[in-house]
This record gives sequence, C-alpha cells and structure tokens, in this order.
Amino acid sequence: MDHKQTLHRQNVTRQFAADMRAALLAWYDRHRRLLPWRATPGRLPAPYHVWLSEIMLQQTTVVTVGPYFERFLDRWPSIHELAAADLDEVMHSWQGLGYYARARNLHRCARIISRDHCGRFPDTEDALKSLPGIGPYTAAAIAAIAFDRPANVVDGNIERVIARLFAIQKPLPAGKTILRNAAALLAPTKGNQRSGDYAQALMDLGATICTVRKPICSQCPWVASCAATTQGIADSLPRRAPKVKTPTRNGVAFWVVRSDGAILLRRRPEM
Ligand code: ADE
Repeated sequence: MDHKQTLHRQNVTRQFAADMRAALLAWYDRHRRLLPWRATPGRLPAPYHVWLSEIMLQQTTVVTVGPYFERFLDRWPSIHELAAADLDEVMHSWQGLGYYARARNLHRCARIISRDHCGRFPDTEDALKSLPGIGPYTAAAIAAIAFDRPANVVDGNIERVIARLFAIQKPLPAGKTILRNAAALLAPTKGNQRSGDYAQALMDLGATICTVRKPICSQCPWVASCAATTQGIADSLPRRAPKVKTPTRNGVAFWVVRSDGAILLRRRPEM
C-alpha cells in the first residue's frame, strides 16, 4: 500500500472550499445538536462556557459532560466565582470525569484569567495556548467557537471526516499532519465565515453521520465529493498503525525529573 499520498492545494480551489463550507453550514443549520454549551443560532456563546466545555470534552464524551457542565455553571456562574473556589471543591465536583490534571489546570487557568485578565479570555490561539490546560486543539476550538476567529480545529472526529473526504490512506498517528493540512484547505481563513459554526458542524458530522462504523453517507452534505465513498472504502478510514506494545521495564528504582524540577521516585518494594 502506498502511503506517500500528498494533497495538492491546486486540487482544492477556493471556490470548491467555499462550496464545501456552504454545504456543511446549511446542513448544520438544520441538524446541529442541541448541546448545553452552545448559544442560540446567530449568537456567540460566552467564552467561559466554551472554555469549560472544551476542557471537560477532552477525553470525555458529550453525553457524560452535559450534566457536569450544568452543575459547574450552577455552582460557579462566572470565571471569578470559579477562581475564588477552593481547589478541593472543584476536584470534588470533577469526580467521575477522570483525568484530574484537567481540573487542577482548570482552576489555575480560572485564577489567571480572573486576576490578570479582568475575567476576560484572550481571543487568539497563541495567547490561549499560553494558559494552563489549553493545548493547540483547545486553543483553536476556543478561538473559533467563542470569538469566531478563523482556525483549523481538528479533533478525532474531524480527522475521520477529512481522511474519508480525501481518501487519505496514511495511517494514524503518523498521518495526523497530512490530515491537518488537508483540513486547512477547507477551513475558514477570514472573518465572516462562521468559523465557530464550521468547526462545530464538522464535529457534529463526525459524531452523527461520518461515524466510525456504518457511516450514514446518504445523509452527508459532502457525499458527492467524498473520495472514500466513491472508492467504497469509507469504513476502513482512517487507517491506524498497529499499536506498538509498550515494553515492560524492570528496575530497582525509577527516577523521573518533572519539567518543574520535582523528582518522582518509585522504588521496588522489599521482598
Ligand atoms: N467535542 C469537543 N468540542 C465539542 C463541541 N464544541 N461540540 C461538540 N462536540 C465537541
């Protein structure tokens, strides 16, 4: 199998990209999921809500996040209130969501925004990325959804949609870069292109139509342009490289130096 596939920008004309965005947004206007962090059509949601939902949605499903999101907002309606909360209370409310580093970073980030930014989130990807718990994906999602900034938002669902649309064969994770670059060929690049809606439309398309198994291609607004559908290979994309087994390491003591200088030591128990 030849995985050295490249996409040529010339094959995706500006007009094609604009038509694809228009078709997707028209579909979204009819089929968007009603999710608690979404604003009513035509309005931008509060950045605090977008940030909170995006942190919760890292590694957690939409269905699980819903009630947690509502409870957090009931308890801490603004970023200043969240910043003033005890970390213990925040950790307690996070129980069940897992990946607890997210809750610690959430609280640290709330304190920084409340104290240093007068409670206002920055509106650029670079500034967002400098905050605790906000990586490149989350920064792009917040910039697009909360501020309607042009951004190339690519999560796992979107990787799948793009892999199929262009029939990209290169297996993940090595294929991430080509998928990102391919997604960028269609993503909004200017204001007034409904960047936040476009990102969420792609997420919804991946979650409800372009699903991992048995995609419902007949209802997809992009079916006429989908290379994987034409080739009858949608089910098998994106390809994934076989998982390399993590090696078992034996030792008397394991010593890790964390980026903040802390030394983490684990010793083999006495026999
Ligand atoms: N997954 C991550 N962010 C999301 C969002 N804003 N809407 C739906 N699913 C998501």
